[in-house]
Amino acid sequence: MVYSNKDFPALKNDRLLRAATGKEVDKVPVWVMRQAGRYLPEFQAVRAQHDFFTVCRTPELACEVTLQPLRRYEHLDASIIFSDILVIPQALGMTVEMHPGVGPVFPTPLQSPSEIDQLQEDGAVSRLTYVGDAITLTRHKIEGKVPLIGFTGAPFTLMGYMIEGGGSKTMSKTKEWLEKYPKDVHKLLSLLTRVIIDYLVMQAESGAQLLQVFESSADHLTKEQFAEVSAPYLKDIRTGVQQKLEEKKLEQVPMTVFAKGGGHSLDVQATLGYETIGLDWTVDPVEARKIVGDNITLQGNLDPQDLYKTPEEIKKMTIDMVQKFGKHRYIANLGHGITPQTPLESMTAFTEAVHEAF
Ligand code: CP3
Repeated sequence: MVYSNKDFPALKNDRLLRAATGKEVDKVPVWVMRQAGRYLPEFQAVRAQHDFFTVCRTPELACEVTLQPLRRYEHLDASIIFSDILVIPQALGMTVEMHPGVGPVFPTPLQSPSEIDQLQEDGAVSRLTYVGDAITLTRHKIEGKVPLIGFTGAPFTLMGYMIEGGGSKTMSKTKEWLEKYPKDVHKLLSLLTRVIIDYLVMQAESGAQLLQVFESSADHLTKEQFAEVSAPYLKDIRTGVQQKLEEKKLEQVPMTVFAKGGGHSLDVQATLGYETIGLDWTVDPVEARKIVGDNITLQGNLDPQDLYKTPEEIKKMTIDMVQKFGKHRYIANLGHGITPQTPLESMTAFTEAVHEAF
């Protein structure tokens, strides 16, 4: 059966969208980055049968794993579509494999700026329609229980993976590019920005109700570098999505920027036009609020490692965190993705505590 991106079931829990747009909420909304992931036995069961990117590319499977955490945790106030940030380099023609225990691997990463011209920008978003199909299917299957978040990697983070050929502790090759080839770096970041804008608009058109941009590698950047290679593109993405949705007469969707390790640039992040700024656990909630002002929602930021503590300790730390952020313009989350060994009951303790805090 083909599902339509119209006539979705009515939304029954709009806490996330209310918080993102500055409206009053009855309780603080909560969701968790990587909430569909390896800490769930039901996710591992799907992965035992199917390769990682097969799950991403098969709407029924992506939908199934997106819904898994919602079945287990009644307090979750949002879902995030199951996919990966690295589907964009794939759509540009690069090969990306997911190696168990290692992470993503590019057998042939970008080795010199001359290779930028080989990237297949034309038609890239049309090679990602499977993400839109997964979003549309999930919007029907979720029956309006909670909103569905779409996402993308930010240009600098994607460029880093494309140059390093996978995750990197040092990002030494990428930093060499920043030094040696500043013009080519901007050419590549601009290409990625154009694709990302169309990709996010496609996700919104398919039914995504909020869009999050992951600048997960901001922790490698100084404040000066962030202003140079991250912030301008993040801003273009926010403006570009708004303009294209307007042109297509589609409803606007709130957007979140999450720059892991970008705590030094909250002042800059507050000028980028995003409704919500995601924080990692190194940022103090009260300090962050002072810097970004009262018109932006904050999201975060418990250290994922705290989920290895006892449920009692988790509850105490979570309530403390939520009270520091306050009830208004706040979305509770971890400061980065939940890790694979996290005990299942830790998620119960975390999500319950958020709703108990006020
Ligand atoms: O539940 C959700 O949050 C949605 C799913 C999601 C995945 N990846 C699934 C995934 C999301 C939002 C992402 C984003 C993503 N992917 C980011 C940005 C967020 C972040 O963590 O900073 C990044 C950097 C990637 C790239 C990536 N994908 C890495 C570095 C890895 C390996 C590390 C790891 O956690 O294994 C992946 C693999 C990945 N993406 C898994 C999942 C569930 C685990 C792989 C598996 O199932 O074998």
